[in-house]
Amino acid sequence: MSEPDHAASLPDRPGEGHGPAEHSETVRYPSVVLITGAAAGMGAEHARALARRGSHVHLADVADCAPLVREITEAGGRATGHALDVTDRAGWRRVVDAVRAADGRLGGLVNNAGMSRRLRFMDTTEEVWERVMRVNLFGPFHGIQAVAPLMRDSGGGSIVNISSVSGQIGYFSPSYSAAKWGLTGLSKSAAGELAAWNIRVNSVHPGLVSTGLLAGSDGFVESARRSIPAGRLGEPREITDAVLFLLGDRSAYMTGTEVTLDGGLVSNGLYHRILDDAEGAL
Ligand SMILES: NC(=O)c1ccc[n+]([C@@H]2O[C@H](COP(=O)([O-])OP(=O)(O)OC[C@H]3O[C@@H](n4cnc5c(N)ncnc54)[C@H](O)[C@@H]3O)[C@@H](O)[C@H]2O)c1
Repeated sequence: MSEPDHAASLPDRPGEGHGPAEHSETVRYPSVVLITGAAAGMGAEHARALARRGSHVHLADVADCAPLVREITEAGGRATGHALDVTDRAGWRRVVDAVRAADGRLGGLVNNAGMSRRLRFMDTTEEVWERVMRVNLFGPFHGIQAVAPLMRDSGGGSIVNISSVSGQIGYFSPSYSAAKWGLTGLSKSAAGELAAWNIRVNSVHPGLVSTGLLAGSDGFVESARRSIPAGRLGEPREITDAVLFLLGDRSAYMTGTEVTLDGGLVSNGLYHRILDDAEGAL
């Protein structure tokens, strides 16, 4: 899944990137993609990469997307910013109407916006529980319902939901873990329902990735790193590679599945840590 050294050019037809893969060296990406939480972190990295490949990227965030829109535009790409709190259902309708008015189609959605409150079980208040659920789980639900008709009218599309390894294992902070597990299930449910509209839905599960989400958690991060067989955190561009793959036509037969990018944390983190602690006492 390495980056091609050229921007893939896209044919001007609906649903591009979602039919059976052809035997070609060129990967095709949707010409119009909406990304939430795109102002910073991994979402911004996905947006830059897609814009370099010729997609018109619609960036949606509660934070100001204008600096990234400027950066992409000055580099010769196409980007439009939208103010959106993903918990706001009416806001989603406004954004999708704006995409329809601007481009008449939509081939990709990356439900990337997310927030985490690393509070232990008994410290998690109802307010925190509700907010984390609303952003990480209700947001993607509203988003999928909002974009699906336009994607259907575009000939199909690919939806990538950014979950987490916390949505695959028991994670100490209940609101985040439950929301991300919910998102894993939502992805599979939507994949089944939307296949008839040629819309694929998959989830991506990053382990620890160095972004603002981990800011101020140095002790937690260093301790967690000791459980990662690869011995390091992930880089945003490594998650972008998987997102690109799922949006593009090389994954045309993938839907309802999970892609984990975690340096081996979920599959081997436990024994990595046990062996480390045992210090050769086997
Ligand atoms: N960084 C990690 O280690 C890690 C690991 C696993 C999963 N993830 C997930 O990856 C995604 C991206 O995380 P990141 O690390 O780039 O985080 P980040 O904090 O760097 O960026 C998140 C972006 O989402 C935006 N956002 C937050 N709430 C929003 C809302 N209600 N509506 C619209 N936008 C909102 C923020 O303004 C920000 O621009 C999240 O879903 C996160 O849960 C991150």
